[in-house]
Amino acid sequence: MLFGKPIKPVRKAVFPVAGLGTRFLPATKVMPKEMLPLVDRPLIQHAVEEARDAGIEEFIFVTGRHKEMLEEHFDYQPELAEKLEAVGKKDLLDKMRTAEMPEGSIFLTRQPKALGLGHAIWCAKKLVGDEPFAIMLPDDVVLAQKGCLAQMVEQYNKVGGNLVAVMDVPREDTSKYGILDIKADHGQLVEIKGLVEKPKPEAAPSTLSIIGRYILQPEVFHHLDAFEKGAGGEIQITDAMAKLIGKQAFHGFRYDGTRFDCGSRLGFIEATLAYGMRDPEIGMHVTNLIKKYGSA
Ligand code: UTP
Repeated sequence: MLFGKPIKPVRKAVFPVAGLGTRFLPATKVMPKEMLPLVDRPLIQHAVEEARDAGIEEFIFVTGRHKEMLEEHFDYQPELAEKLEAVGKKDLLDKMRTAEMPEGSIFLTRQPKALGLGHAIWCAKKLVGDEPFAIMLPDDVVLAQKGCLAQMVEQYNKVGGNLVAVMDVPREDTSKYGILDIKADHGQLVEIKGLVEKPKPEAAPSTLSIIGRYILQPEVFHHLDAFEKGAGGEIQITDAMAKLIGKQAFHGFRYDGTRFDCGSRLGFIEATLAYGMRDPEIGMHVTNLIKKYGSA
């Protein structure tokens, strides 16, 4: 029980994928940013697998124009499956099948205009209904022994309320993130008294920033209903979350793992190196290539 309410399990996750991905133009002129492959699977699949490993049962995609490829990716591909089977390529067939989702598990809604992350989440309001839910930003990839969302769900099952994954950032970078105003820092768990979206370094209440993993209570939708614009003229999820503080439990969670910002070119290249080095087939070659070009 928490704030007089029992802790409900997290069964649904929202994947906002309607952004424009302008930092990757021209690659993202037609292809969604979330389809860019990190080693052998697109960013969206990394996020879906992390959610599946955390026990999520319903996967809600907030898509937009030119994003049909994202839903296709998780569908069955009978022609290719038959061909691979006919030539005995079972290993490739198994790999392909990692992207098949069971019927009744994927739900789609659209964000007609990219008005901001808060607006994208609001578009999933009816599909989420009256229960807690996770948000996964596919361009934040977390390399961890146990998935970041699975760690969060474990923590959420103890504390309930709202939980956001957080990491320390250099002070000069606070204007890129949602930043915590800390009430009490208990190490892995941080009590929050406020949230500020993209503050200037001199105005930032801390250097603890939110990354793209959230577990929120459905009441956050009441605060998104107004479509209020925030930092950058966009409807921000951070502003709506801030309004829950004091009414519901709200914690930051320092996860174990390394987060890569795959929404930026440099972060994407770093993630490719880190994941490539760990690949069972090509990992050693990637390490050798890093040495080769590192010393050039
Ligand atoms: P970003 O802030 O990275 O924006 O969105 P973006 O438009 O995708 O990329 P840039 O900045 O133009 O390069 C973070 C996540 O939120 C989604 C994006 O698809 C991405 O997964 N998003 C963002 C939406 O779904 N709708 C929006 O209006 C904004």
